[in-house]
Amino acid sequence: MDKTISFIGAGKMAEAIIAGLLSSKKVTGKQIIISDKYDKRRIEIEETYNVRTVTTNTVCVTEGDISFLAVKPQDMADVLEQCKETLAQKLVVSIAAGIEISFLEGYIGKQTRIIRVMPNIAATVGEGMSVIMKNNAADATDINLVKELLMGAGDVIEIKNEGLFHAVTALSGSGPAYVFAFLEALSDAGVRMGLSRDVSNKLAVQTVIGAGKMAKESELSFATLREAVTSPAGTTAEALAILEAKGVRSAIIEAVKAAALRSKEISTKS
Ligand SMILES: NC(=O)c1ccc[n+]([C@@H]2O[C@H](COP(=O)([O-])OP(=O)(O)OC[C@H]3O[C@@H](n4cnc5c(N)ncnc54)[C@H](OP(=O)(O)O)[C@@H]3O)[C@@H](O)[C@H]2O)c1
Repeated sequence: MDKTISFIGAGKMAEAIIAGLLSSKKVTGKQIIISDKYDKRRIEIEETYNVRTVTTNTVCVTEGDISFLAVKPQDMADVLEQCKETLAQKLVVSIAAGIEISFLEGYIGKQTRIIRVMPNIAATVGEGMSVIMKNNAADATDINLVKELLMGAGDVIEIKNEGLFHAVTALSGSGPAYVFAFLEALSDAGVRMGLSRDVSNKLAVQTVIGAGKMAKESELSFATLREAVTSPAGTTAEALAILEAKGVRSAIIEAVKAAALRSKEISTKS
């Protein structure tokens, strides 16, 4: 790819995307330019990834063809105010949770090509899930370009209804935390039954990775996969009966719905 990509904000998520871009060899370090208000962080990223860094956000945007806005949602208005003229000429990609397209358009105009992204933290290990949506000014070429870039950090799907970002935030955005909580419980169970913490952790993690990989690669439904490892009156059936009796499935559904509701409450419109 012959484009230059600028990042305003060099935090965890920007780093994950940059690492993905470089490891998938879509671009070289010379095609990435970043600015961050924190000097130490900027230097760290420059030295680790051999990318270009600048101290001024407007210079960063000017030098790139595609501008990733990767600051925290509460810092977004400042960045937009500062860079609105230069951003209006670029393909703008915002990864900020809860910042709606109309908010971005309020600063940089409806005619600017904008892609909104909801990534997740697993992008840091190249296994992220990003959901993307374009505004009216952006076209299929823009979406495909951003999709291709983000594929370096995991999987990507496009949605066409911005209202669904609340569900996405609740499911894949917050999802890694639910899985960590499940891992903790699984590992605690092992320890209660006499396994060492190390062994318990290893068993729990590899089980989740293995089941996730099977679910991803199989064409069977999750329910069919579950039934395939549940023999009648066996050990797995005994455990699943307890999960049902304790309402674990409905608790998960309620929890994800609560996260979506919270996302709606705190999102930033125009
Ligand atoms: N982490 C996740 O799991 C996750 C998931 C989905 C979406 N996101 C979104 O991704 C975005 C980035 O999150 P993150 O976790 O990477 O945050 P982060 O680690 O705090 O990174 C944000 C970076 O931007 C810098 N910054 C703030 N204001 C700036 C400005 N005016 N100009 C230049 N740089 C500025 C910050 O510097 P200082 O530290 O000095 O303020 C920080 O280094 C957020 O909007 C978040 O909603 C994150």
